[in-house]
Amino acid sequence: MKFFVDTADLDQIRELAETGLVDGVTTNPSLVAKAGGSFLDLIAEICRMVHGPVSAEVTATDHATMLAEGRKLAKIAPNVAVKVPLTPDGLKTCKTLTNEGVMVNVTLCFSAGQALLAAKAGATFISPFVGRLDDVGSFGMALIADILEIYNHYPMIATEVLVASVRGPQQVIEAAKLGAHIATMPPSVVHQLYRHPLTEKGLETFLADWEKTGQRILDSGEAAALAAGKNG
Ligand code: E4P
Repeated sequence: MKFFVDTADLDQIRELAETGLVDGVTTNPSLVAKAGGSFLDLIAEICRMVHGPVSAEVTATDHATMLAEGRKLAKIAPNVAVKVPLTPDGLKTCKTLTNEGVMVNVTLCFSAGQALLAAKAGATFISPFVGRLDDVGSFGMALIADILEIYNHYPMIATEVLVASVRGPQQVIEAAKLGAHIATMPPSVVHQLYRHPLTEKGLETFLADWEKTGQRILDSGEAAALAAGKNG
């Protein structure tokens, strides 16, 4: 499963990109507003940090303007995935941009029927919002299962299921068990995935026992060279 981070915060993207675990980034107008600054510069900077797909969303609602915006966004870098809403104009724009060789992420998907339409429009990614469905008393993960079941019947569908609006690590695990291609998650969820109290407790014990041996793996010269490298 590919991991995308769902943020426009450059510091958080940089920190996570350095782990080598980030396969892409998703942004939306709300995340861009939170980050502040120029949208176009922000996307260019994210594209320099992460080589995988970086979703940048159009803000027009009519086809002609969406298309112009999408083409402009796609010119920023080859790894831009233009994000369009799941509306008739959005899908029309998706079809045109896909035919032009641009990656398209169809967002705001809340039903299997919508996901089917996005696949027919040639979307690179479909983004079903599991958290927002859970928020209204629906079961977001059931939608992921439905979309995957439908897509799996048609091997010619190349659209990848990008599980969005993820609120916790358990949703990432559930999505992976279903075979979803990608999960996009806020940085806090990536950090939560790492943590387990038994890992922390186990490490504490190992290190305490290692101290008792009085040994070091790196000798003093090697440790000094490492510290000099870190500080230089
Ligand atoms: C990603 O592409 C979506 O914009 C994002 O996951 C939405 O998440 P939210 O429901 O937490 O705002």
